[in-house]
Amino acid sequence: MASDAYDELTVAVLGPGGTGGLLAALLSRAGHRVICLAGDETAQALRTDGIRVRSGQFGDFTARVEADTALREPVDACLVAVKHTSLDAALDRLPPETLGDGLVVPLLNGVEHPATLRARYRPDRVAPAVIRVESTRVAPGVIEHGSPFAEVDLAGDDVPKERLDALAQALTAAGPTTRVLADESAALWAKMSFLAPFALLTTRHGLPLGDVRTHHREELTTLVEETAAVSAACGGPADPAQALARYDAFPPQMKSSMQRDAEAGRPLELDAIGGALLRAAARHGVDVPVTARLMRELTDAGH
Ligand SMILES: NC(=O)c1ccc[n+]([C@@H]2O[C@H](COP(=O)([O-])OP(=O)(O)OC[C@H]3O[C@@H](n4cnc5c(N)ncnc54)[C@H](OP(=O)(O)O)[C@@H]3O)[C@@H](O)[C@H]2O)c1
Repeated sequence: MASDAYDELTVAVLGPGGTGGLLAALLSRAGHRVICLAGDETAQALRTDGIRVRSGQFGDFTARVEADTALREPVDACLVAVKHTSLDAALDRLPPETLGDGLVVPLLNGVEHPATLRARYRPDRVAPAVIRVESTRVAPGVIEHGSPFAEVDLAGDDVPKERLDALAQALTAAGPTTRVLADESAALWAKMSFLAPFALLTTRHGLPLGDVRTHHREELTTLVEETAAVSAACGGPADPAQALARYDAFPPQMKSSMQRDAEAGRPLELDAIGGALLRAAARHGVDVPVTARLMRELTDAGH
């Protein structure tokens, strides 16, 4: 570990945006050393102004962080918080030989990126995390945390448990409640099972969740069942009724981040979510006709 003190970590954050910027600021406020890795302009803004957070849950505050365009020294962990669409380019900022024994902790949605990271970094140091939060980078170094919750599940089947526990403890003490889960596949698929139907349908129809669950109920139900079947085949949870009940409990105006990206003309994580779902279904021989049709329609629409 790069730090001597048990409770004081050195953490790099690759991609200090909505999720990464929030965690970077919270960890820094809690006394950890934080090095943000970003492009020139964002790194400069962070060095000058720090990260400004507006959060109902954690308060409004500014946190000082270090910032650079590449990792130049070992760290205890590097949180990887870019979108899938920029992952390959961003990883050039994180040389494996510099990271060494440090944990690689991706916060990305999806299920395929851990394999990409394990091909590049020490496989037994890749600790995939799932984050439940709504947090937006409104400008470089300016983060709006809108949800009244921020929760992290941390996994990594081959990662030493004490390394996961140390990071989980630091995160929880800094703000977001963090659990260490024993089963990585189950953790990633639990998120995917909820996210994929919500993201694909709200984006396809350009409607918030409330309209989707009322006007496209049958399609939503089928998509939830298809996703649950693929999840089960991959070792994840499969409880379509529970997933539907969760959608019904959310506020009707809720939008998915994929839908917000589509509205803003940004690249979508469509391949990492819908594409990965189709590939997993094909690998396990699970029939997913509604998912396949939605993916065709979204692709035909230029996404
Ligand atoms: N936001 C949420 O509420 C939320 C919730 C759950 C899961 N997730 C997942 O978390 C992941 C990250 O999403 P996000 O919303 O945090 O993304 P985001 O707000 O778009 O932030 C991404 C960050 O990556 C930076 N970046 C892009 N290309 C880079 C590169 N080549 N090198 C270094 N930095 C680069 C961006 O820099 P600039 O600031 O310079 O543009 C930005 O700061 C996604 O997989 C998303 O699905 C997000």
